[in-house]
Amino acid sequence: MAAAVEMLNISKFYPGVIANSNVSLSVDEGQILGLIGENGAGKSTMMNMLYGMTEPDEGVIRLFGKEVKIQSPNMAIKQGIGMVHQHFMLMPNLSVLQNIILGNTPTKNGMIDVKDAKERITEIMNNYDLPVNLDEKIYQLSVGEKQRVEIIKALYRKARVLILDEPTAVLTPTETDKLLEVLRQLKAQGCAIIFITHKLREVMAITDKIVVMRKGIVTGTLMTEEAKSEGLSDLMVGRKVNLDIPRKEYSPGEEVLRVQGLKALNQRGLPALRGVDFQVRRGEIVGVAGVEGNGQTELIEAISGMLEPTGGQVIFKGRNITAFNVRQRREEGMSHIPEDRLKMGTAKNCSIRDNLILNRYYQKPYNKKGILDNKKLHELSERLCRDFGVKTPDSEYRLGTLSGGNMQKVVFAREMEADPDLLIAAQPTRGVDIGAIESIHHKIVEVRDSDRGVLLVSAELDEILSLSDRILVMYEGEIMAEFKRGEADERTIAVYMTGAKRQGGDGNEK
Ligand SMILES: Nc1ncnc2c1ncn2[C@@H]1O[C@H](COP(=O)(O)OP(=O)(O)OP(=O)(O)O)[C@@H](O)[C@H]1O
Ligand SMILES: [Mg+2]
Repeated sequence: MAAAVEMLNISKFYPGVIANSNVSLSVDEGQILGLIGENGAGKSTMMNMLYGMTEPDEGVIRLFGKEVKIQSPNMAIKQGIGMVHQHFMLMPNLSVLQNIILGNTPTKNGMIDVKDAKERITEIMNNYDLPVNLDEKIYQLSVGEKQRVEIIKALYRKARVLILDEPTAVLTPTETDKLLEVLRQLKAQGCAIIFITHKLREVMAITDKIVVMRKGIVTGTLMTEEAKSEGLSDLMVGRKVNLDIPRKEYSPGEEVLRVQGLKALNQRGLPALRGVDFQVRRGEIVGVAGVEGNGQTELIEAISGMLEPTGGQVIFKGRNITAFNVRQRREEGMSHIPEDRLKMGTAKNCSIRDNLILNRYYQKPYNKKGILDNKKLHELSERLCRDFGVKTPDSEYRLGTLSGGNMQKVVFAREMEADPDLLIAAQPTRGVDIGAIESIHHKIVEVRDSDRGVLLVSAELDEILSLSDRILVMYEGEIMAEFKRGEADERTIAVYMTGAKRQGGDGNEK
């Protein structure tokens, strides 16, 4: 029997970059292929070609034994290919229902047959346990929910081949488990699945076969049962990675941030923060753990000036800055790596350089009396690309030409270069490969060791545990518990994350 998908000797060239060179891979019906490799290795490019977003310069694609030319996503969909993209492709102002049926709207006597669509979608939601409210607008949804919509959309179009480009980068551990369950179900029904991830745990748990890429070529193809995690990470980054970062002894200095009785509403207009109090001192990393959607996003937005609190205060270096705007806060020495880099952190159509200098182009020495010193700015952006491992032939290229993980590095580099008194880092390693995680963790610890404060929010409990001096656990807009480094393990924290328990307070643990 022919493989569901065969991509043979595929090459793709961009100016100055060989995105793929002679890459071959295949996946059968009822098989899950893990596609892994460092940032910029060429994973998304391969899958974009399979989905008709771009065409290969060389090579052949076969679907169920038949050679095909896939020139558009529409053609891909007609051939039974579905894709959940690394950066979601949903229309934020349309409802969930509208997004799912977009481009595939059922009609009856020339009228849109919403009833039929709703019935089919409800059946999919029930079969795969993927609940979403069809009438809500996309912008009101959490990332996990948006992803569910993308999967439902692919299933609604009857995908026989499903591509998922880093689907778990934005998910909580529970959501990830649920997604893997859905994939197992699809596999049992004969779907061919290609799954891109940076998390080896997931590769080992769910895939049947693994293709490892580095710098545009395949460095290994093996069956999962023969694979070992360490071996894979070597194949991916070409060296050993050590996530155990050395740090100075904990001796926190003066307070840099204080949050008092902070209250705020979420996008749906419901209470997201219900009176949050804590402080961050110089020389410490304070980690906020919690299941996503429990107020972490609003907490960071309220501190960085993007969301107006409905109560309480933000005190920065002893001053009440609650009424300051984002720029004023930045100028006071606050840096912020936002969790959603494409929505808030970057301008995709501007150059990498412009994105790197977004926060400083109006300052000396880059701007003298309103005139930009382009040479200095170029030097700065080239240096940042080098120091932070942003892979590009030239920082004048559009940001949109970078791979997902490399965009994240741009945001990180810009915020670090501001030399902040307080670094607010939300999901700082989302979508970056393990080699880059190591280097980002080093740099976060450097901020702490040079006597500045760090507020870290991460959905990765591993990351919180390995970096934080103190850990706050959030649940439904409140801080349920606080632990010192080494005081609590993953399991203990998880109990507080679900709201099953609360520290101290009235003395009764509920
Ligand atoms: N439209 C484009 N124009 C120019 N270069 C591009 C374009 N798209 C991708 N590239 C380059 O191709 C290479 C491969 O990128 P790709 O997005 O496939 O990497 P990836 O393996 O998906 O990485 P990540 O894990 O960071 O998502 C990168 O060097 C990237 O900069
Ligand atoms: Mg990618």
